[in-house]
Amino acid sequence: VIKMSDLDLAGKRVLIRQDLNVPLDDAGHVTSDNRITASLPTIKMALAQGAKVMVMSHLGRPTEGLYDEQYSLAPVAAYMGNLLGRNIPLVKDWVEGVDADADLILLENVRFNKGEGKNEDSLAKQMAALCDVYVMDAFGTAHRAQASTHGVAKFAPIACAGPLLAAELEALGKVMDNPARPMVAIVGGSKVSSKLTVLESLSTVCDQLIVGGGISNTFVAARGFNVGTSLYEKDLIPNAQALMARLDIPAAIDVRTAAEFSPTALATIKPVDQVTDDEQIMDLGPETVAKLAEIIKGAKTILWNGPCGVFEFDNFAEGTRAIAEAIAQSDAYSVLGGGDVIAAVQKFGMEDRFSYISTGGGAFLEFVEGKTLPAVAILEERAKS
Ligand code: 3PG
Repeated sequence: VIKMSDLDLAGKRVLIRQDLNVPLDDAGHVTSDNRITASLPTIKMALAQGAKVMVMSHLGRPTEGLYDEQYSLAPVAAYMGNLLGRNIPLVKDWVEGVDADADLILLENVRFNKGEGKNEDSLAKQMAALCDVYVMDAFGTAHRAQASTHGVAKFAPIACAGPLLAAELEALGKVMDNPARPMVAIVGGSKVSSKLTVLESLSTVCDQLIVGGGISNTFVAARGFNVGTSLYEKDLIPNAQALMARLDIPAAIDVRTAAEFSPTALATIKPVDQVTDDEQIMDLGPETVAKLAEIIKGAKTILWNGPCGVFEFDNFAEGTRAIAEAIAQSDAYSVLGGGDVIAAVQKFGMEDRFSYISTGGGAFLEFVEGKTLPAVAILEERAKS
């Protein structure tokens, strides 16, 4: 693909698609800013070259064709403006054209425009008409073929990959395509069903697969142990067994359980075969953690997606924290992805201790599954023609 860093942007109208879809609290405040901070270097680079910069993004999933304040990018414009130390005007109606003199503007939520989700050519052409250069930098939305991520790249005079997108593809490629070995993949989160393709794809690449969170409960059940009232998926026990037969998946030795799913519930540590009917597994136990930490210590490449326990509750955060600490202390090239893992390492104040933190959630998983990301594919096509 053509990279933004290879182009001369002086005096050019540059339209940058970023993923500024960040979580907001009830008062509309940004609660996690890593997508914003990861996007800033691209904007700064374009401005430094003397480009006229237009940034576009979606936020949430509003009803198309309507303006809805709840999904406005206003809080993001304010937050970004603070970080850049300047005012960033947010332009509400922009498809028909924008102020040609402005050097940096944020365009209101792309999903307020009819045709965005269906990737309609008419909208994509209007977007393309705004610019001389279209920069796709929204790795987190690269799995969506929408007007602002895909269609616009067909019609813009030049379509290229931004520095963030390029960095993401490089980091993930380093892990998935020819990793330094041993490679250890850690997959947590609540459900096997939502990660089955990820687990299967990783099983062909990694040397050891560590499972955590609700996912590991299904593996505990697959070994024939009682999981009480734990979150687990009975239907997927055969899939878990097949994975265990094919691959080295370290078995849990002990677990932390609770009588109820509550932030104040107390943790009981017990051997994995002693869980009773009225309790639920909420985290890895210390012996399991020690065994996993030893494996992680020897890794040369680590991929981590999904927390290892209910880290949001302090009494059940230890497993996830210890895994994070083991990765941070290892010499491995480590890539983390997915909103929950990022939230966890932010909670632990550890976000600077890994090789790469991805801004992708769904896009990260699709890349790991080996799927083609449509927004990247169109850039490749444009580069060929
Ligand atoms: C994400 O948060 O995964 C991306 O911003 C994509 O959002 P979407 O799932 O609403 O398309």
